[in-house]
Amino acid sequence: MNFVVMPVGWDEYRQELNAVRRVVFIEEQRVPEHLETDAWDGRSLHVLACDLAQNPIGCGRLLPDGHLGRMAVLNAWRGQGVGRAILARLLGLARESGMNNIEISAQVHALEFYRKAGFKVYGDVYEEAGIPHCTMHLWLGLRRGSSL
Ligand SMILES: CC(C)(COP(=O)(O)OP(=O)(O)OC[C@H]1O[C@@H](n2cnc3c(N)ncnc32)[C@H](O)[C@@H]1OP(=O)(O)O)[C@@H](O)C(=O)NCCC(=O)NCCS
Repeated sequence: MNFVVMPVGWDEYRQELNAVRRVVFIEEQRVPEHLETDAWDGRSLHVLACDLAQNPIGCGRLLPDGHLGRMAVLNAWRGQGVGRAILARLLGLARESGMNNIEISAQVHALEFYRKAGFKVYGDVYEEAGIPHCTMHLWLGLRRGSSL
């Protein structure tokens, strides 16, 4: 594998995480900067992907309520399993945190990417930041230690 994926803290890695998001969301997808930035980052779990020279190439986050978001891979790195690896690590963190219902507001063009990880679409298409989205859910199962 020519990349690494690791959980990172926001305070320590915000520059690397923001570098990927800026290129993908603000520059490529034209998402207004004020919509890209919110107050959740400091309270979320983050995963960063880097190439072997430690340049950031992808990212994603998991909010405390089980919402996945800010999944992004630099264009040159797409289609090589980076997104899948980030998603798998985030879902691993979710399981470790005892979350069992994961939700994402997914861009419609990426529905298949999430479907392949087991997510299912709920409800209709809506617009967010001028981009069509759908709500998707993934049920991770019962909490560890449950008697059921
Ligand atoms: C969506 C995104 C994160 C996927 O990352 P990626 O590194 O290209 O995905 P992977 O290479 O790990 O793909 C995993 C699987 O999903 C499939 N897949 C990925 N993107 C897809 C797409 N847009 N449409 C259909 N299938 C897709 C791949 O073919 C692969 O399938 P396989 O397991 O059968 O080989 C990336 O395209 C991206 O950053 N897009 C721009 C930002 C964005 O839209 N983010 C999502 C916001 S909800």
